[in-house]
Amino acid sequence: MSVSLIIYSSTDGHTKTICERMINSSNDKNSVKILSLNEATKIDLSEFNKIIIGASIRYGKHSKKLYNFIENNKIMLDQKESSFFSVNVVARKSEKNSPETNPYIKKFLKISKWTPKKVGVFAGKVDYPNYGFFDKYIIKLIMFITKGPTDTSQSFEFTDWSKVDDFAKELWTNS
Ligand SMILES: Cc1cc2nc3c(=O)[nH]c(=O)nc-3n(C[C@H](O)[C@H](O)[C@H](O)COP(=O)(O)O)c2cc1C
Repeated sequence: MSVSLIIYSSTDGHTKTICERMINSSNDKNSVKILSLNEATKIDLSEFNKIIIGASIRYGKHSKKLYNFIENNKIMLDQKESSFFSVNVVARKSEKNSPETNPYIKKFLKISKWTPKKVGVFAGKVDYPNYGFFDKYIIKLIMFITKGPTDTSQSFEFTDWSKVDDFAKELWTNS
């Protein structure tokens, strides 16, 4: 039986929600396991046929823990059918929402030296009411500069769920 693992690197939970949506579109949900990046560091990856990693951006970067994880498991990831996707709000812009045009994906692939078989990028969420004082006003400033929404009393979800579903469909093909 083909067993898949989805690993999420998420601060506010939106990347995990995207991972859960992907699992829901699998015909065999019981064969897909989901773990946080911290949990994934403690298990043996060899039992999985497919490994999918989803990670969000914070202040221009994927987490250091993500890079460490990839470095520590590079051989295994290269042997498996492995995929990667990034979640960030720059990807809400049509000219930055593909693996070829999103700056964070390009930087990630260059630094990690990992070549996932499948790469995706999804626009995330700006969740002003749940941010602390500092984050709220920095994100508001970034949104103002990049012509995004600045009403801090609201949440703004930019995720194109049909794009997530299409990515997932391809993931589960041949599983
Ligand atoms: C403190 C903070 C910093 C962020 N920095 C960036 C950034 O530099 N570039 C970007 O495109 N998105 C940035 N984002 C947007 C997140 O990538 C987006 O909210 C994503 O949905 C978060 O996913 P998560 O809930 O899985 O952590 C930032 C969000 C927060 C809260």
